[in-house]
Amino acid sequence: MTFSGLHLTALDAPLLGVNIDHVATVRNARGGRFPDPVAAALLAVEGGADIITFHLREDRRHIRDDDVLRLKESVHVPLNFEAAVTDEMLDIIERTAPEHVCLVPERRQEVTTEGGLDVIGQFDRVRDACVRLGEAGSRVSLFIGADPAQIDAAARAGAPCVELHTGPLAHAWWDRDHAALERELQRLQRGLLHATSLGLRTHAGHGLALSQPEADGADQPSSAALVAALPDVHELHIGHALIGHAIFVGLKQAICDFKAEAIRARQAGRA
Ligand code: PXP
Repeated sequence: MTFSGLHLTALDAPLLGVNIDHVATVRNARGGRFPDPVAAALLAVEGGADIITFHLREDRRHIRDDDVLRLKESVHVPLNFEAAVTDEMLDIIERTAPEHVCLVPERRQEVTTEGGLDVIGQFDRVRDACVRLGEAGSRVSLFIGADPAQIDAAARAGAPCVELHTGPLAHAWWDRDHAALERELQRLQRGLLHATSLGLRTHAGHGLALSQPEADGADQPSSAALVAALPDVHELHIGHALIGHAIFVGLKQAICDFKAEAIRARQAGRA
């Protein structure tokens, strides 16, 4: 049986935040306007995405400022604006007034967000950002590791939500390291319970995937399934593997469309 994304939204499952940064990465590879991440966001909403997530990085390597404006204008599900805790980003977030904000660490050289935000190490800055963005009307989440001390600090900083970093779990899953996977799953579960006990709403994300090539067996649960099954996970935020999966489920259709276009063009040329 197949479900559309909209049917899945109706079930008791975590909300799905779809990160569209990688569409922008493909666009930027050629410097033009295609593929447009805003068009992808609208399609994602049609497919059942509950939230559209994007990360405006300091170096603008994928999402750009005008994408943010266009997303705000055209997307009618909550936007989740991921950003570093810098004055520039806080100003842009205030002007944009997204429904949700996720504060993340950012290093220029990193390929993707590595590790969680060090809330303890920059407590005053993070607390001030939570106050400022909360007053601007955005719901703030802090992207942190499943570390009790960081979770405590997030609660003290006044963030209503935390997103726990599933990167280590995802790595163990890709490596098929069952012992590490079990360890990370338990660490994540303890982190979720701890955050919930402090009254925080709990999200999870990073590196989660649906399947991997040459998996051990069909009964191998996906990393997305392992995390989605945890009852304290209210939102999942997924980008890279979801856009990657779209290549595989959409590639055949894309080839058909290009071949049909070529055939039509030849036929029209002969007419
Ligand atoms: N959550 C946060 C806070 C992130 O920074 C990212 C990566 O942009 C994700 C989730 C999604 O990670 P991935 O692209 O690996 O699914």
